[in-house]
Amino acid sequence: MRRAIFPGSFDPPTNGHLDIIKRSLPLFDEIIIAVLNNPEKNPMFTVEERCEMIQKILPEVENGKCCLTVDSFSGLTADFARRKQATAIVRGIRAISDYEYELRMALMNRRLEPTIETVFLMAAEEYAYVSSNLMKQVFTLGGRVEGLVPELVENRMREKLG
Ligand code: PNS
Repeated sequence: MRRAIFPGSFDPPTNGHLDIIKRSLPLFDEIIIAVLNNPEKNPMFTVEERCEMIQKILPEVENGKCCLTVDSFSGLTADFARRKQATAIVRGIRAISDYEYELRMALMNRRLEPTIETVFLMAAEEYAYVSSNLMKQVFTLGGRVEGLVPELVENRMREKLG
């Protein structure tokens, strides 16, 4: 059983996240999309809202072979992965600028839990500049994010901003 977790803030989930999930499907039997409960970061969406959005957009990438589930967690990613008996942590890399931060996290996670490997997947070029923070900033200032986040997410962002 090859089980991985794909941890992140997902505030909000983007098409870049979906692209990484799609790419990881052939590699694992089960992937748990693990949403970090981080109220101190003042997220746009509550952890429940983020989990619900992901649940709703997953059918866009589901392939029937790999089991996709959504869960939330607090505390260390390495502890969550261990509790779930996962053997891998999936992270997406968009550009070389992501690498340093991701490398530090991967090495720290390996120190915390040596049996779990971090697997880096490269996002599609068209999402190389897509981040949740950029999406929130552009949308809040009236810019278009169509095609960069799922339609449902765009609608939820519109609702949030009233
Ligand atoms: O989508 P993000 O915000 O880049 O995801 C970052 C995340 C959630 C993977 C990272 O902040 C994390 O793992 N947080 C949980 C706390 C933790 O384990 N910190 C040590 C990481 S080495």
